[in-house]
Amino acid sequence: MAGNTILEAEHIYKSFSGVPVLQDVHFEVKVGEVHALMGENGAGKSTLIKIVTGVYSKDEGQIYWEGRPVEINSYQDCQKLGVACIYQELSVIPPLTVAQNVFLGREPRNGPFINYNKMNEMTQELIDKYQFPLKPTTIVDNLGIGQRQLIEILKGLSQNSKLLIMDEPTASLSGKEAEMLFHIIRTLREQSVSIIYISHRLEEVYMLSDRLTILRDGKNAAVLEKEEIIPAKVIETMIGKVVDESAGSRKMLHSDDSKPVRLEVKNLTDKTDRYRNISFQVHSGEILGLGGLIGAGRTEVVRAIYGVDKAASGEVLLSGKKLNPSPKLSIKEGIGFVPEDRRNQGFIPLLSTTKNVALTNYDIVKINGVAISDSDELAMSKRAIEAIDIRPSDPDKQVGVMSGGNQQKVVLGKWLMRNLKLLIVDEPTAGIDVGAKDEIYSILERLANEGVAVIVVTSDLQELLRVSHRILVMRKGNIVKEFKNVEVTQSMVLAAGQGVTENQQEEN
Ligand SMILES: Nc1ncnc2c1ncn2[C@@H]1O[C@H](COP(=O)(O)OP(=O)(O)OP(=O)(O)O)[C@@H](O)[C@H]1O
Ligand SMILES: [Mg+2]
Repeated sequence: MAGNTILEAEHIYKSFSGVPVLQDVHFEVKVGEVHALMGENGAGKSTLIKIVTGVYSKDEGQIYWEGRPVEINSYQDCQKLGVACIYQELSVIPPLTVAQNVFLGREPRNGPFINYNKMNEMTQELIDKYQFPLKPTTIVDNLGIGQRQLIEILKGLSQNSKLLIMDEPTASLSGKEAEMLFHIIRTLREQSVSIIYISHRLEEVYMLSDRLTILRDGKNAAVLEKEEIIPAKVIETMIGKVVDESAGSRKMLHSDDSKPVRLEVKNLTDKTDRYRNISFQVHSGEILGLGGLIGAGRTEVVRAIYGVDKAASGEVLLSGKKLNPSPKLSIKEGIGFVPEDRRNQGFIPLLSTTKNVALTNYDIVKINGVAISDSDELAMSKRAIEAIDIRPSDPDKQVGVMSGGNQQKVVLGKWLMRNLKLLIVDEPTAGIDVGAKDEIYSILERLANEGVAVIVVTSDLQELLRVSHRILVMRKGNIVKEFKNVEVTQSMVLAAGQGVTENQQEEN
């Protein structure tokens, strides 16, 4: 079977309001192959996928399915052909259960009524088959973004599709969840299911894919066979210049306690026991990394510090002053927060870059504390665009239509415009391309040099080692390990997060 083409897109053109986003793009996927799609933020990957799946209409070009020309004008059209897609912007519906989300619009029925028991059973079967850590009856609202992503994947898997498209599926998964996904991908490939796999993570692409198409500025840059997927070559093709990779392997940490304590957390304990007795300090000028697996309680702890959620007990002190955390107070006190789930919590899609950047900064752009100064607002947004290379660089551009990576830059950018005392970033570079990642690390380092205390929550071990001055590892709601002024390797952090002692690890 392998070798036949299942999907081919030819001479695809697409513009948004006159700006070309795809130009003469050719893309072809064979039966049973994992075909990766890479390119910088804004290169056109998601747009190409949305054209193939009928979400956007193309301006020109032709799509072929199993060799026949087809018109795909809606997501239903592509579902009928046997295509399922997990989009970058998750589309799960929070007030519904896991099972309701998986079978949305395809619910098993008894006459006119939805058969909930059957639906839950069918969902449980799928969960068992793929061994996902989910329950059919859980309300999605109570789940973190990693688990929500698994629901999307389950939804795709439940349709017996011939082609499964995944747009950055691992952006918010823990190492263990990602492993599970890779296993599923390999199993599906053995069953001759084709997969389009979009990712910014080279290791994944290298490990999983049979071929790789690279887009640059909306055009084909290369199609590489498996043996041609060499990291340096891929990066060069993607961005058209050579980047410094050596920065990623720094192992030495050096933490300086002599600086004043900026943040102190004492015995912070959650109402629903997702974390307990959390105590730590962050010094001025220090970047503290919070490591651990997804579900370890890291996101919940930082949300409580910022005040999005309330802790049941414990204290948060900023420069020695006790706070009763709330987002409003945090902004006022100089605490910035970049949440993990940016799409739902980080920005307002219908507003422009300028308005989004201004959102947390109205105290700065107000004239006499009352009217908003349009020119200050614009100047600020231009500074943010410049600082982290937000593209498109048009300050009036609606953030909702920007590429996933650039949306994240807007969220980060708005905090960088403030005089911060503490910045908390949760998975700061998920979905951000290699070039821009380095820019973000430099910004965090620059802030630390200026005396800001920084907390970085990340599941990317390379990133954790790259940016942290000191690392705390959480596991099941507790801080289980501190790495300070020592050589740390990725496997040491991993072992601590999984509750394996170093001796045990040596035996393994
Ligand atoms: N609905 C839209 N309206 C206007 N412009 C859009 C729309 N959707 C995408 N674009 C623009 O098209 C370009 C390509 O975006 P796309 O989302 O395809 O990039 P991407 O390769 O998926 O990037 P990322 O890695 O950041 O997800 C971007 O400049 C984006 O701003
Ligand atoms: Mg995208």
